[in-house]
Amino acid sequence: MTCRGRFVVIEGGDGVGKTTQSRLLAARLGARLTREPGGTDLGEQIRSVLLDPHAGDVHPMAELLLMVAARAQHVNSVIEPALESGVDVVCDRFSGSTLAYQGYGRGLPLEDVAAACALGSLGLVPDVTVLLDAPLPALAGRRPRGAGSEAPDRIERAGERFHERVRAGFLELGRQDGWVVVDASGEVDDVARDVCAAVAGVLGRCGPPVRSDPIVSSGAPCRPVAPEPGR
Ligand SMILES: Nc1ncnc2c1ncn2[C@@H]1O[C@H](COP(=O)(O)OP(=O)(O)OP(=O)(O)O)[C@@H](O)[C@H]1O
Ligand SMILES: [Mg+2]
Repeated sequence: MTCRGRFVVIEGGDGVGKTTQSRLLAARLGARLTREPGGTDLGEQIRSVLLDPHAGDVHPMAELLLMVAARAQHVNSVIEPALESGVDVVCDRFSGSTLAYQGYGRGLPLEDVAAACALGSLGLVPDVTVLLDAPLPALAGRRPRGAGSEAPDRIERAGERFHERVRAGFLELGRQDGWVVVDASGEVDDVARDVCAAVAGVLGRCGPPVRSDPIVSSGAPCRPVAPEPGR
């Protein structure tokens, strides 16, 4: 019997440490690491359009629909096949980011954004979403700007009030079932420890250092992959 893989999402605002923590977590879980928007050829092309600082005025609805178009391709061709074959997936952003940025941040009606997300995710819901949260001023010194560093993308340039709305939106989302909020203002290793504890609390495991924990050793129930008809 093959157990379906578990789908773990790392969410949070710009520069909070999602990519850093997604990499560390995927390595500990032995999971497939992927990201949004992106993760497929089509998705990466959509990503470059969405983040292009020279894209000019992009209507929030256009932004939303591009995001969820990239997601449908990603879920269908990368995430679902991995989960079906028993591989865990760690995804750097997913529907939560769309709700936070295009809903709370851009001001599109949340029910419209949620409906678009339901379509774009093809009904896939994360097993656990870890929200990395830190006050904006705590992140100011993290990413060096200027020579040799990447220039801010179109969404990073949206301004402090926009990013405050996004953070507040994420914290609202973080109150939902299936979400765990982790303080991301500490050192990388400390945040990684808390992310692992959050994931282990839901999945029952998080890589070797956590596996020795007695709570974890009881294991999480396995959801079998339904055999395809005719197999
Ligand atoms: N806990 C931490 N303490 C200090 N610096 C950190 C921490 N986590 C990440 N960083 C650094 O902060 C910067 C942003 O981290 P990272 O790229 O992981 O964030 P992100 O949330 O993926 O950003 P983006 O929203 O742009 O994708 C990087 O230079 C990274 O090395
Ligand atoms: Mg990142």
